[in-house]
Amino acid sequence: MKFTIDKAIKTAIQKTLKDLGFPETQVSLEHPAVEVHGDYSSNIALTLFPSLRSASRRSGNLKFSSPRQLAESIVDELSSNKELKKIVSKIEVASPGFINFILNEKLLIIGLEEILKEKNGYGSSNSAKGKTMVIDYSAPNIAKRFTIGHLRSTIIGQAIYNIYKFLGWKCIGDNHLGDWGTQFGKMIVAIRKWAGKSVDELTIDEMESLYVRFHQEAETNKELDEEARVAFKALEDGKKEERELWKKLVIRSMEEFQKIYDLLGVKIDEVYGESYYESMMPPIIDEAKKKGVAIESKGALIIPYPKDALPPSMLLKSDGGTTYLTRDLATIKFRKEKWNPDLMIYEVGSEQTLHFRQVFLAVELLGWAKRNQFFHIPHGLIRLKEGKISTRKGNAVKLEQVLTEAIDRAKKFNDDPEISKMVGIGAVKYNDLKHSPSTGYVFDWAEMINLDGNSGPYLQYTHARCRSVLNKAGVFPSSFFPLPSSLNFEELSILRFIYRFPEVVMEAAKQYAPNLVCTFLYELAQRFNTFYNKHRILGDNAQRSTFNAQLVFRLLLTSSVAQVLKNGLALLGIQSPNAM
Ligand code: ARG
Repeated sequence: MKFTIDKAIKTAIQKTLKDLGFPETQVSLEHPAVEVHGDYSSNIALTLFPSLRSASRRSGNLKFSSPRQLAESIVDELSSNKELKKIVSKIEVASPGFINFILNEKLLIIGLEEILKEKNGYGSSNSAKGKTMVIDYSAPNIAKRFTIGHLRSTIIGQAIYNIYKFLGWKCIGDNHLGDWGTQFGKMIVAIRKWAGKSVDELTIDEMESLYVRFHQEAETNKELDEEARVAFKALEDGKKEERELWKKLVIRSMEEFQKIYDLLGVKIDEVYGESYYESMMPPIIDEAKKKGVAIESKGALIIPYPKDALPPSMLLKSDGGTTYLTRDLATIKFRKEKWNPDLMIYEVGSEQTLHFRQVFLAVELLGWAKRNQFFHIPHGLIRLKEGKISTRKGNAVKLEQVLTEAIDRAKKFNDDPEISKMVGIGAVKYNDLKHSPSTGYVFDWAEMINLDGNSGPYLQYTHARCRSVLNKAGVFPSSFFPLPSSLNFEELSILRFIYRFPEVVMEAAKQYAPNLVCTFLYELAQRFNTFYNKHRILGDNAQRSTFNAQLVFRLLLTSSVAQVLKNGLALLGIQSPNAM
């Protein structure tokens, strides 16, 4: 396990509590919002005090009259801890009983060495070694357009995947394509009746129009639904003609989806798709019946939840057809058997929250896994200025066009095709990831593609700015010494912030929140730019062969900022060009 400052402080506090005779307690640290309150703060005295007071009331022996007094005793004891002395330069008590730690500047400077030594690995860890997670993301539906919801799922899902991998998890990404279900009966009927050409020649738009037309005509022509049912049955029974039509729909749709994945630079490990689980459903249905988890109701097979915790879910419809939920259960069983993951994550829109609660609870009732091995990251909607977009009506935006437009708009910064792609796609991704997954947002070009706000281009630009300073310097110091005798406010503000990156990555994983990485990177970039605008890093001579302590430090700091920005952006799936 790697040395980290927060862990070292926590260990010291824990040791002190033990020495003072307290039972083992959880210790947490915060970064105070106001920097004069120190780099870390602990509220341990405040959390311990109430139980102490009641215990001493009982015994009639009150050792500490206030949380502040307790904090002071802890600090007294901490002050003699030699390990801690190396890390902190000052420990203070603040009302009503916080313990604040001010880190040793020298240690922070030397800490930059770790960033430069570990390079692209800085912030990573192997703390999750041996653990496996499966993440279900992207998952577009065959014969339908890749929606903005699938775009969010792809971007957020990939970031979560990257973050977990960085922390040592074995990660398996699975693209659970919507390639099965009664809608394919409708598609088959619609194609036969109205397509007028071979499926290989249909665009997704045309497929979608056919689907829309089916629904329109079915409103007046009641036979269509029955025809669709028969067609789906034939598909399920493996009838050659229906199977071939369906297969072609899958291939055609995937060709279209691939264009989006290529633009995004995303490659998902596995693509099983819902159809893969077809043959695995009957044994699961049997198991659910045998275990008494599923019961018949009005000709259907349903899962009622104990104490009506959730509305019942359906395993088999009254016509005997399986459902989206049945396939999700089969998928879980399959994933368990194949990878035995510690964690299964789903990055799917918030409109499916109830569905996943039903799935996870069903899994628990079936006794396959524990509830805490599953997590649904529900994402909110992206709205266009016109309002929510619906595929049924066939007026959805074309994502491929949106992404190409982003690349086009990024040409105003740099028209090199590779760079404008990195910047345009980076802008779309960052703009999505900077919001917490669960909140929706309005898609706004001006906010996304600009150099002054909280945007991808701003961060990439800051990274490129660092690289350009380092390039101009020509040579890079080979040692950290001599250390500068004093640092200015702007230098300190970077130094007192940059070391938090590994903690932020951990927290982003724990909370399933890539937006925490964004917030951190944005603040780091702002701190760097404030420094850059106020001070001359290279001084008067750009090219130097001799270094003074200040220049050494500034180059190391600049290089560290570039590295951390790059590592953070990489977790978000965003590239960092060296020039913009
Ligand atoms: N294809 C589905 C949709 O577009 C999303 C699938 C999500 N994953 C899952 N295992 N249910 O709504």
